[in-house]
Amino acid sequence: MRVVILDNPQQVSLFAADRVDRLVRERLLVRQPLVLGLATGGTPLGLYKLLAERHRNDGLSFRGVETFNLDEYVGLPPDHEQSYHFYMHDALFRHVDFDTGANHLPRTWQCDLSESAKAYERDIEQRGGIDLQILGIGTDGHIGFNEVGSSLGSRTRLKTLTRRTRQDNARYFASIDEVPTMALTMGIATILESQSIVLMATGAGKARAVAGCVEGPISAGMPASALQLHPDVTVIVDTDAASELLHVEYYSDSERVRASLIR
Ligand code: PGA
Repeated sequence: MRVVILDNPQQVSLFAADRVDRLVRERLLVRQPLVLGLATGGTPLGLYKLLAERHRNDGLSFRGVETFNLDEYVGLPPDHEQSYHFYMHDALFRHVDFDTGANHLPRTWQCDLSESAKAYERDIEQRGGIDLQILGIGTDGHIGFNEVGSSLGSRTRLKTLTRRTRQDNARYFASIDEVPTMALTMGIATILESQSIVLMATGAGKARAVAGCVEGPISAGMPASALQLHPDVTVIVDTDAASELLHVEYYSDSERVRASLIR
């Protein structure tokens, strides 16, 4: 795993935006399609803001790019302000130039959820898989909504949210009782099939989960630790989220050596 430790959340967003920006422009140049995996939550908001700004001011175009989001709540209509359909439209899609029909989220409203999960997997496969998956991480170590105990071989499916996740997300709702109890989420195996993965985390509240993800034993008790099985993961964190990592000095040395080679 590549671990990049930066001073603050703004730098984390900037690093992630540069990575996405580079990939989008490279693929456009060679006229190859690109499939991005997207995440919701507070963490990637800065990334989406930067991508929208670069579209507006710097010629970054998303034509030909398709997106698949990690997850969607069950029980909220797509136009509900706290649905991830709404979040993505508001944070990114309406600000940039994706082709019509290029943005996919799991369907959870008034449909057969098990069919919808299968269709989502099929749709990803039909596009040749995800090239770059953006991830956040829950304070309990979830990725997507793969909560503690999620099979490391799991595919897109219905998952019950932990009390902790519902508490973490209650800030967006009038009360915790309004936070949905279930979601349809890509599985851990689905996520691990992405070509490359970027995990973003900021703030001290994520420190334990980040340490478990990068340095802990691989375990369904810390779903993000499954990322250790993937050959191309970049974990981008601020110093607060890095505060429980044991090998900070080594990660920083590695980045310095890398920078000196690239220069
Ligand atoms: P957050 O959520 O970005 O709002 O902290 C991350 C997650 O739950 O994956």
